Amino acid sequence: MKFPEHFLIGGSVSANQIEGGCREGGRGLSVWDVFQFDEKVKNGCFELPYETIVKAAQDRNDALYPKRRGIDFYHNYKKDIQLFAQMGFRVFRMSIAWSRIFPTGEEEVPNPEGLQFYRDVFHTLRANGIEPLVTMSHFDLPLALSLKYNGWEDRKLVDLFERYGKCILDAFHEEVKYWITFNEIDATVHIPYVGAGMIKEKTSDEKQACWQALHHQFVASAKVIQYAHAHYPDIKIGCMSTKNLKYAKTCKPEDNMQCLLETLEDTSYTDVQAFGSYPPALLNKWKREGISVHFAKDDQETLKQGTVDFISFSYYASLVTSAGREEKDLSNSNLLVGEKNPYLKQTQWGWQIDPIGLRYSLNQMYDRYRKPVFVAENGLGYNDTVEDGKIHDDYRIEYVRDHLRQVMLAINEDGVDCFGYTYWGCIDMIAGSTSQMKKRYGFIYVDQDDHGNGTKERIKKDSFAWYKNVIETNGACLD
Ligand code: BG6
Repeated sequence: MKFPEHFLIGGSVSANQIEGGCREGGRGLSVWDVFQFDEKVKNGCFELPYETIVKAAQDRNDALYPKRRGIDFYHNYKKDIQLFAQMGFRVFRMSIAWSRIFPTGEEEVPNPEGLQFYRDVFHTLRANGIEPLVTMSHFDLPLALSLKYNGWEDRKLVDLFERYGKCILDAFHEEVKYWITFNEIDATVHIPYVGAGMIKEKTSDEKQACWQALHHQFVASAKVIQYAHAHYPDIKIGCMSTKNLKYAKTCKPEDNMQCLLETLEDTSYTDVQAFGSYPPALLNKWKREGISVHFAKDDQETLKQGTVDFISFSYYASLVTSAGREEKDLSNSNLLVGEKNPYLKQTQWGWQIDPIGLRYSLNQMYDRYRKPVFVAENGLGYNDTVEDGKIHDDYRIEYVRDHLRQVMLAINEDGVDCFGYTYWGCIDMIAGSTSQMKKRYGFIYVDQDDHGNGTKERIKKDSFAWYKNVIETNGACLD
């Protein structure tokens, strides 16, 4: 078995986790720039007290804030892209930092230095035969919009995102043919500060505000998609959510009903962007919980007219759910917590490893939407060790091989139209949830520790040559 001929296989990153250069080229701070590294954080830190955010915003001691430094891709991008090219990447999923283009989010004209940086990156990718796939917003809202408007709670952000989205489409429609509007758009209801810039103390009714903010993001996304379709018909623009796959704990009907309800909630985010309307289960949930989301006059129509060309998601782990109220044995995964699965192994960070779940998810998403699907993130975070200048990461090879085999089966056995796979964290970077450096995903090791010490030298891990061979053989070597 092989992947289809033009299968887009490569790697995935986000601006805030790799770029650094946080004060260069006129960039403004983002909501992710205020988290300090904290040894005590094990499973993730997704919100901070208002006072801490304000203090951090004024703090020029950037060394304390890992996401301000990234891995210095800002200065190293040419060499890093050459390494990706050596692996044969056909696609590189990256994001544009909104605050490089509009430093406070409210400028009337874009920052030319920010645009130039990304133009250079795209040209370097193309010169190396790599297709860029760009996420417009990957958890890095300009901090000024969080402080002034409480982020996406305010409708004002719809207009500001529209301006930003149109600006980067106009600037880069020739270089970039694949776009995603929001990374893991469901994050807004799970981790509202990171997903939508909403600060707890500034939010009076959090549940209500989260759904309102998410509605604003859906509308903003649909407006930008409409614009892309009208002006640049050769562009493909998609949505992206966290795939929180759940299995029922037993074959008890109650457990399966609970699982179905949670699955419907999980797909509801993509439903809005793929079908252009809210699913009944979500509307009913709002009714039950007394949530009333305000729709502006044209919103329904905007959602209808701004549906996506493709579906993408991140997939790291699966969880288990059951109906009972008894105490449960829990396991954390990307953004959600669920029950443990005794049949699965876990990563060092407690995420349950389930390659078959990826085939399951691909089938579920393709069957539901019948639009091309794309695996935007999948990867293993591991505390690698360097021995004599080498990193023997067989565990990572095993993880990726097992997941890619399932992608292959979904395509070849089940007929899923999956057009690509980007391994998350193809180069070591700052972890999203914990701001650690030791939670490494890369095929390329970066010599930097949790505190920012190190030469930042790039070293090829064993998985580097292995992934290169996978791409070269178009997956034939997986058998
Ligand atoms: C996804 C995010 O939720 O998970 C990434 O889109 C993040 O930004 C990735 O890095 C893995 O999570 P973490 O916390 O291990 O980096």
